[in-house]
Amino acid sequence: MTGSIELSGLRLANPLMLASGTWGFGETLPGEVLRAAGALVTKGISLYPREGNPPPRLAETPCGLLNSIGLENPGLEAFKARILPRLLKIGPPVMVNILGEDEEEFLRLAEGLSGTGVAGLEVNISCPNVRRGGMAFAYDPEGVRRLVGRLREVWPGFLSVKLSPIGPIFEVAQAAEEAGAGALTCANTYPALVVQKTPRGPRFHQGGLSGPAIKPLTLRLVYELARRVKIPLIASGGILSGRDAQDYLLAGAQAFQVGTATLLDPEAPLRILSELDELSRAD
Ligand SMILES: Cc1cc2nc3c(=O)[nH]c(=O)nc-3n(C[C@H](O)[C@H](O)[C@H](O)COP(=O)(O)O)c2cc1C
Repeated sequence: MTGSIELSGLRLANPLMLASGTWGFGETLPGEVLRAAGALVTKGISLYPREGNPPPRLAETPCGLLNSIGLENPGLEAFKARILPRLLKIGPPVMVNILGEDEEEFLRLAEGLSGTGVAGLEVNISCPNVRRGGMAFAYDPEGVRRLVGRLREVWPGFLSVKLSPIGPIFEVAQAAEEAGAGALTCANTYPALVVQKTPRGPRFHQGGLSGPAIKPLTLRLVYELARRVKIPLIASGGILSGRDAQDYLLAGAQAFQVGTATLLDPEAPLRILSELDELSRAD
């Protein structure tokens, strides 16, 4: 279960990917962890720089983490000039997670990343589509079909659509597959709320929930998706141990991503790979 795999033409040394947004651009992780990953998925890159949300951006919940980073990133040009060359030297294939405000921005991102050595795109459809009144792409299966179809014209390489766990996920998944997606990443964080009591009254902190709390929810989505689509599934949601990863592989995923676990323990990806290896030997 930890050997090399192929996902729609993309070869990985092992099925573990570092999840978007949870390892910075590698500055804070030991080089050994970065090199051991099957693939590195960057945080969301937009056409223009984004400042993100004001702090606090993270809140702990009993079994999870709520984040409201607001997709802070340096924008495409600065990413290509200052960050990508360093990531490409690490070794594992680099996948770039892209986010656009509308179809045109997604297309310009894909065009701008062509010929740069990037091994694949992960298309974040959880972001609002400004041309549809701010409704997330993930709520609009026909919009996703059109988006993926147009991306396919400019990006023939590996392309995974990162699904949102909310909205009509099965219809969106099928539309993405029919339009030519090479894989589906299941799934992004769940919209959630934390209430903080302060002397001036309650403070409401909205954000995306990740970590162990979401694992059974996303595991079900992967299991159901595996019965509905033929393209490979990349699981993402609450993987903290080799057993968690194995559950997703048994439910029908071909690869998996480790996110919040890396924030808790920078060496978690190494531990998860060795636990998974042991589990598969024991079976
Ligand atoms: C701090 C933080 C930042 C994230 N940034 C992104 C992002 O830029 N793009 C994206 O598609 N997902 C992003 N995610 C979602 C993760 O990639 C992952 O899909 C999600 O956290 C579920 O996996 P986990 O429970 O292993 O963390 C982020 C998650 C966290 C916790």
